Amino acid sequence: MSPSIQKKFKNPRAKHGFQGRTCSIAAVGSYVPAKELTNQDLEKLVDTTDDWITSRTGIKARRIAAEDEFTSDMAAKAALRAMVKGGVKPEEIDLIIVATITPDMPFPSTACWVQQKIGAHRAAAFDIEAACSGFIFALEIGQQFIMSRTYDTILVIGAEKLSSIINWKDRNTCVLFGDGAGAAILRHRPAAHGLLTACMGADGRKADLLSMPGGGSRCPATIDSVSNGLHFLRMDGKETFKNAVNAMYTAAQEALRRCEINISQIACIIPHQANRRIIDAVGERLGVQPEQVFVNLDKYGNTSAASVAIALDEAVEQERIKQGDLVLLVVFGAGLTWGAAVIEW
Ligand code: ACO
Repeated sequence: MSPSIQKKFKNPRAKHGFQGRTCSIAAVGSYVPAKELTNQDLEKLVDTTDDWITSRTGIKARRIAAEDEFTSDMAAKAALRAMVKGGVKPEEIDLIIVATITPDMPFPSTACWVQQKIGAHRAAAFDIEAACSGFIFALEIGQQFIMSRTYDTILVIGAEKLSSIINWKDRNTCVLFGDGAGAAILRHRPAAHGLLTACMGADGRKADLLSMPGGGSRCPATIDSVSNGLHFLRMDGKETFKNAVNAMYTAAQEALRRCEINISQIACIIPHQANRRIIDAVGERLGVQPEQVFVNLDKYGNTSAASVAIALDEAVEQERIKQGDLVLLVVFGAGLTWGAAVIEW
């Protein structure tokens, strides 16, 4: 990005009394399990075809965690990779936030298991749940702690073992999801701009569109709840699709408006990796060029809270994002929830 464009955005944080304080992303890291499940493999499990999955979603394969590999294991591996890249020691971490809908167990939090696994014993730790929007929600929460001078170094992770809540007999959903984790280390850095803005939204009136009804206080685990499949993810795909396109477009516009920039100034757009047709529809409405958009859902499917975190790490590794670039993350998930963030890399 040219220096002239670089200067042409506003840091919305400045007007909130945060002068002299910035939240940079010091490093990112990701991890996906070794086992690949291709569309051809799924053809043997349910009544589907590679052609249907590819044309309706863009997904060709997804990664599946081993039976004894939990969300916290993947989260810890992604975190350690980010820590190595950023030169951050476990004892420097003040706070761990894990965004997930597939925690190791209802309690304690997956963040506490991650703390144990990476040895960040000084850190506070908690989980948040905003489904596929979770990573942006966690980034925004982490940033608030940095800007308010509460903490200096925060580990933000999106991690999922969605294979543990998928009904492998339901072709409507089992072809869509995969497992993995992505992590970012947030730090106060006086010279850097980092995260410029993040906006979040929710609409609980549409909570039924995408849910896992069993396992909570409303429907605790019983023999009936298990045999009725209430512990599996359920989705009204068509309605979710429509809502996703509208919400992602609106969230992206709001984030750009807050920074007083337009879409052409964004070097790399990283959308939630749920469906290629959703990404294309949002891109068309925003007026983006195809080369601005980073897509890796063909390899991993929808990894929910891990999706944009893994994609961000891969985009950096592939040098699709360079220092000084403006990056737009835009997400959508169950809740309904949605969000967008602008980062100066
Ligand atoms: N293989 C073959 N046929 C299938 C499959 C499959 N895997 N799945 C569904 N079909 C059939 C359906 O049964 C239906 O058949 P019918 O017409 O005889 O009833 C037909 O294909 C068409 O189904 P649609 O629902 O119309 O397919 P659509 O084009 O809407 O694609 C999809 C479905 C891929 C689920 C899409 O709606 C979608 O991506 N929705 C959004 C998902 C999303 O964004 N999730 C984000 C949040 S996820 C989270 O927060 C955890």
